[in-house]
Amino acid sequence: MILETKRLPVHTSVESSGQIIRDVLSKPGIFAIVLKETGLPVGSIGLHFHSDLARKDDECELGYWLGVPYWGRGIVPEAAREILRHAFEDLKLARVWCGYYDGNTKSRRVQEKLGFTYQWTNDDTPVPQMGETRKGHVNLLTREAWAARQGADPVGEEK
Ligand SMILES: CC(C)(COP(=O)(O)OP(=O)(O)OC[C@H]1O[C@@H](n2cnc3c(N)ncnc32)[C@H](O)[C@@H]1OP(=O)(O)O)[C@@H](O)C(=O)NCCC(=O)NCCS
Repeated sequence: MILETKRLPVHTSVESSGQIIRDVLSKPGIFAIVLKETGLPVGSIGLHFHSDLARKDDECELGYWLGVPYWGRGIVPEAAREILRHAFEDLKLARVWCGYYDGNTKSRRVQEKLGFTYQWTNDDTPVPQMGETRKGHVNLLTREAWAARQGADPVGEEK
């Protein structure tokens, strides 16, 4: 699979892929995105606790990526709706943060469709894996806003 991500370096070897699977993708709270029809894993989504954005015990940060051939089918929004339900209903969290680097309109659209709202922009957001900083935009979804949307916009597909 071709993996393009704005957040992690390109995989350069089987060993580096193994290390990313161990260090990032196998952490608690991180799930594979699997195609319903075939069972093929095509991406990853998860809740990150005690991150730069989510510092309190009752909040977390949402992260996700999807293999390029599967973009544009609404797969990540569908997976994210279930992860958000899990965060607010099962884990009783108060806030879910989510960010995107400037120019990543695909990720911005995902967050808009899920009901996240803009909070602030940081011109020097660290990208540790790349050894650089980028302009980053920060969005938030509170439990109250999420709950209000369940009646008003159950599929969250408004443009
Ligand atoms: C961002 C990402 C997760 C979106 O997942 P997805 O399942 O394709 O999401 P959607 O199908 O809802 O598409 C979201 C937007 O991407 C854009 N898009 C979809 N397919 C595209 C493609 N092939 N090329 C360019 N843009 C595309 C569309 O603008 C779409 O918005 P719209 O619904 O208003 O038209 C995916 O593109 C990805 O993994 N990108 C790389 C990793 C990344 O950026 N992760 C997030 C870090 S913050």
